[in-house]
Amino acid sequence: MGLIKITWLGHAAFMLEGSKKVLIDPFIDDNPLAPVKSSELEPDLIAVTHGHLDHLGDTVKIAKRCNCPVVCIYELSRYLDKFNVEAIGINIGGSVVVKDVKFTMVKAIHSADLVRNGEIVSLGSPVGFIVTLDGVKIYHTGDTDVFYDMKLIGELHSPDIMLLPIGDRYTMGIDGAIKAIELVSPKYAIPMHYNTFPVIQQDPQKLLEKVKALNLKTEVVILKPGETFKYEAKD
Ligand code: NI
Ligand code: MN
Repeated sequence: MGLIKITWLGHAAFMLEGSKKVLIDPFIDDNPLAPVKSSELEPDLIAVTHGHLDHLGDTVKIAKRCNCPVVCIYELSRYLDKFNVEAIGINIGGSVVVKDVKFTMVKAIHSADLVRNGEIVSLGSPVGFIVTLDGVKIYHTGDTDVFYDMKLIGELHSPDIMLLPIGDRYTMGIDGAIKAIELVSPKYAIPMHYNTFPVIQQDPQKLLEKVKALNLKTEVVILKPGETFKYEAKD
């Protein structure tokens, strides 16, 4: 247990820092909101929720430079094999511990194919992760709609912090996100996947106010790209 720092890098990209640095969905160099270049990031581990380019992003580049493993769904791991990246494929419901960090894969409702050289490449299912870092559980939902099994995810894993999309159009919007927070009931919820592009403009303040009005136990934390939320774990 200790201090965990969660830095939003814009879109669905987060750096989780404790005894290890875990980078999730590193869409950085083509991300208009990213406060850094991918060359400045030094993760110990990368996790990718699905193969869409706004999530897979700079994974190959960073993984090669930092020589760090990539945790993802099996089909995507086989795709990454082609780039000589150490990809660790697991599947929904399964867990893996890499460098003392535990990744549990959970479902997400979304799509996950990639168009490459005019061909559609299937990269497995889209997923979310429960990342357990120094005893703190962070649920990155990936791109998803709300679904009732989020209640089960909450019951099984009791995540401390939930990272969830609110941008609408490609994922759930604010109303779905409120329901998702209610179902999972984390201590903190940080919205993501909005304002990166004009089609996913969203006001995160609306989420904060509506969650507050419902008297849920969850506190919504709004980050600007580059800002860090610090979570002090209690034993
Ligand atoms: Ni996507
Ligand atoms: Mn996306």
